[in-house]
Amino acid sequence: MCGIVGYIGKNRADQIVIEALKRLEYRGYDSAGVAIGDGQRIRIIKKKGKVDDLKRLIDKDELSGTIGIGHTRWATHGVPSDRNAHPFRAHDIVVVHNGIIENHLEIKERLKKKGYRFQSDTDTEVIPNLILYYTREGFDLVGAVRRAVKDLKGSYALAILREKERILVGVRHESPLLIGVGDGEYFIASDAPALISKTNRFIFLEDGDIAVLTDDGVRILDRNGENVEREIREVNWTPMMAEKGGFKHFMLKEIYEQPSSISDTILGRILEEKGEIHFEELEEMPLSRIRKFWMVACGTSYHACLIGKYIFERNLKIPVEVDLASEFRYREPPVRKGDFLILISQSGETADTIAAMREGKKRGAYTLSICNVLGSTLSRETDSTIFTRAGPEIGVASTKAFTTQIAVLFMLMLFFASRMKTKEKKEIKKMISELKKIPHKVNEVLEGGAKIEEMSKKYMYYKNFLYLGRGINFPTVLEGALKLKEISYIHAEGYAAGEMKHGPIALIDERMPVLCLSPGDSTYSKMCSNIEEVISRQGKVILITDMDSHGMAKKVEDVFVVPKTIYELQPIVSVIPLQLFAYHIANFLGTDVDQPRNLAKSVTVE
Ligand code: AGP
Repeated sequence: MCGIVGYIGKNRADQIVIEALKRLEYRGYDSAGVAIGDGQRIRIIKKKGKVDDLKRLIDKDELSGTIGIGHTRWATHGVPSDRNAHPFRAHDIVVVHNGIIENHLEIKERLKKKGYRFQSDTDTEVIPNLILYYTREGFDLVGAVRRAVKDLKGSYALAILREKERILVGVRHESPLLIGVGDGEYFIASDAPALISKTNRFIFLEDGDIAVLTDDGVRILDRNGENVEREIREVNWTPMMAEKGGFKHFMLKEIYEQPSSISDTILGRILEEKGEIHFEELEEMPLSRIRKFWMVACGTSYHACLIGKYIFERNLKIPVEVDLASEFRYREPPVRKGDFLILISQSGETADTIAAMREGKKRGAYTLSICNVLGSTLSRETDSTIFTRAGPEIGVASTKAFTTQIAVLFMLMLFFASRMKTKEKKEIKKMISELKKIPHKVNEVLEGGAKIEEMSKKYMYYKNFLYLGRGINFPTVLEGALKLKEISYIHAEGYAAGEMKHGPIALIDERMPVLCLSPGDSTYSKMCSNIEEVISRQGKVILITDMDSHGMAKKVEDVFVVPKTIYELQPIVSVIPLQLFAYHIANFLGTDVDQPRNLAKSVTVE
């Protein structure tokens, strides 16, 4: 969850590193630091707090040099403090690190016996000291790095400098790291948004890779120390895409980007005349008889899995087992050879989801990931991957990634239905045409955004909410409740409406607004009864429906109508008002909407 940047080139490294760190702020952090080399010495400035605080210190200190590294830290070992901020130095070696060194205590003890001293409470500090030790054993910088990482257990992405050497070294092991290729200048970063104002050409390092950046270019060694060529990929994210585009928050921008992100995700994958779905990523995928699907993820992506279950089981008649990644990986899941394991992750770097994928692979499953980030670990380790094309999702609260994940799951179901011949062509064509209308329908909902904003003013001071839904609308209300919780810090609980009488109804009174998602589907009459039960206990009902004349519309506090669509695509249009409701309440309350307290965009540690 930390941010890493590095630079070697002709321009002032401090300015480039600070700008790149600013673009990584969305990842969430508690301290920041830079190290700049002027050919003789490396100066380090680091402190607890924001990158802007660091910049003020640097402006005073006039760091000059054309090679440097920087870091934003999210504390995992050692409290947020100046002392525990990165970079760390050991004599002439300077390092920044993202990840966790699981055997750092053992290494620290070993080095202490050899006279090495440590100033911080972090795991990271063992790394520069270990590299220093190996340089004193006679290795050159790259050799010492190669030898040192052999001693490390855990996950690490590193950027490393040494005084008097114009070499920038990057190391990737279970924590993402990429190289930016500029015009006679080279960069290192933990992910692409840091560098998109400088280049759109990236090399995504593989686990075990060591990248050696000099003024002459980039050399990459694989885990065996062999020179290896890695593809330079063009990521077409413009700086604007990663900027706020005129919106107050990234999250609001990303909510309003959903018509285009869904269109982009669908683009080129629909063969309407043929009534087929085409995934270029799945061309090599073997399509033997699939006995069972597993869908595994965390957080919002887990809610997408729950929706995927409804979409798949209703149309493919094949069982789907959905699990939280953090549970799946430890419960010895009865995965059998040939099971089809789908992992969903916006970042593709969520530690629990990666571990679950490895667990499923070990048990013989075929693994398919649905990710939003090119080159992410999950997308590179699964047997196949499908990319949502949502563009960079900067706001910590996931919105456009979620709706594009559902679009991919819907297309994947049609892909299987066509190949397994479980659906007539004409039915597939009909469902495809419904999918094509979704971006427009999402736009319609967004045009009603002002009404949601108005509505949210009435509810911003309540302390608890209940969100109720049935069928495919149940995971949608789970997602809506998560959105409210994570950005407004108000407690909200998503619940299967049929379960209300089994406990939660005891909570209902005038202080508990109840948001009910009740489209005109097969659960309509049951939802009407639930709404009656809430109203008769003075609960305030907010009704989200696709019916212009819902039977309960006149009895509830507020109604918001969304466009009609088919059952399987209902969550995409219904979640939009829930996203906006959460956003506007949080915005009115003045919380840090894009970087909510205690949260990070990608949970790359357990
Ligand atoms: C979503 O709003 C949350 N920020 C969080 O639950 C997130 O969905 C979860 O951490 C999974 O992230 P991933 O999709 O990148 O794996």
